[in-house]
Amino acid sequence: MNHVSNRSSNSPNVDERHLMFDDLEKLGRILVETGDIAHSFVQGVDDMDVTCRDFSAFDPSRPLQGQGRGTLDALRAAKEEILPLLAASIGPRYLGFVTGGTTPAALAGDWLASAIDQNATGPEGSVNAAVEEQVINWLCDLGGVPSDRYDGVLTTGATVSNLLGLVAARQWCGEQVGVNVDADGSGVLPDLEVFAASPHASMIKDLSITGIGRNNFTKVATKPGSEETDIADLKAKISASDARAKIVIASAGTVNATDFDDLEAIADLCAAYGAWLHVDAAFGFFAALDDRRADFTKGIARADSITSDGHKWLNVPYDCGIFLTRHIAVLETCCRAFAPYLDTKADGNSYINRGVENSRRFRALPLWMTMVAYGRDGVASVIRANCDQAADLAAWVRTHERLELFSEPKLNVTMFAARGSDEDNRALLARINATGKVFMTPTVYGGRFGFRAAFSNWRTCDDDLVIIKQAIETAL
Ligand SMILES: Cc1ncc(COP(=O)(O)O)c(C=O)c1O
Repeated sequence: MNHVSNRSSNSPNVDERHLMFDDLEKLGRILVETGDIAHSFVQGVDDMDVTCRDFSAFDPSRPLQGQGRGTLDALRAAKEEILPLLAASIGPRYLGFVTGGTTPAALAGDWLASAIDQNATGPEGSVNAAVEEQVINWLCDLGGVPSDRYDGVLTTGATVSNLLGLVAARQWCGEQVGVNVDADGSGVLPDLEVFAASPHASMIKDLSITGIGRNNFTKVATKPGSEETDIADLKAKISASDARAKIVIASAGTVNATDFDDLEAIADLCAAYGAWLHVDAAFGFFAALDDRRADFTKGIARADSITSDGHKWLNVPYDCGIFLTRHIAVLETCCRAFAPYLDTKADGNSYINRGVENSRRFRALPLWMTMVAYGRDGVASVIRANCDQAADLAAWVRTHERLELFSEPKLNVTMFAARGSDEDNRALLARINATGKVFMTPTVYGGRFGFRAAFSNWRTCDDDLVIIKQAIETAL
């Protein structure tokens, strides 16, 4: 309470703030208790139900109290009211979406990022921008693209990275024909054509956000029984196009079948027809770290822009996306934020001018920590293990008399269903998830309803596969 009495004479808000000053004095204890709670949660996820299916005990409409309770009391409340109702999504059997966990080093980095709370806008007075630059160089190295040709920015996720891809692509296309979309608006480039075979849902959303229009793209055919771009169809469509501005969206790891486009062939077509090549490699970017899959992303270093994610397969906490481009100046044209109060003469990258946000979390730190702690080999070993786990589940499904594999997993996702109707399978998925032992999300592939098991967590082990198979067997 010293702070309160010392400052009471010149601070009108002192009564309201006394709890915060009190807490500052107790910070050591607060952090230890927070650490204990976090530690039991992280260690306990193996034994928790993988998802919480009834959170009716939590009342979102409860009014805010006038008087606070201090952090130790708030921590106790969080432990009782919130923690038991969470999903064990950092755990080894959460196979929904493409959900990474958190490595211990990334967790430590994330906590530090909160404690030091830099506003990671740029190089003014802090090394944070240089750390982000180093991390982006290391990410280029992991994905096999030359860091002297690519630069980038950390984003909130692949959705925003895809958005930056579209924005930079449209600006570049305009510059090729002498118009400036950044200055004069998208109306100066009416004949923009976007080509895509299997765009992720986030890309469709970004087509809307950019004003291009979610339906306004040329659908390229996929190879039969696959989500991979049919190169002959892309060639036919792009060569027949009269548009002065062309963007091709390619995939390095589609979300269902984990298909990879032939990026060399697509890059050749883009070069021939003056198109910008954007590659969505939200999780597939890291495939080449598995030497058995080294060819999957061949040609990616010819992309004009690349999307990836840290919070998926790199197992750093939310939120962390990655955007890389060979045309950083174009991105900076579109994203620059100028005001006299933002002006800086400091040497280094101004990340405020490279993305959607002005104020930004120090996302580079958890990435930096995990890469320093485990190195390239540590990251690669997670990729390999998860691919093996997807293959193991697929092998079990293939020989199971009541199950059917939708396609051979190329990477870390296994898609399957039980023999029977879509309706039966919907009910079965609900029963499997209700076991609390595993969580999978639904999908539709080849017109059929099925289950997606996406292995993206560093903690998943052989024992988990045994539990997962047992849960499916029990629910069948
Ligand atoms: C291929 C692909 N692109 C983009 C996204 C969107 O990622 P985020 O949720 O990080 O925005 C995903 C998410 O699963 C994805 O798999």
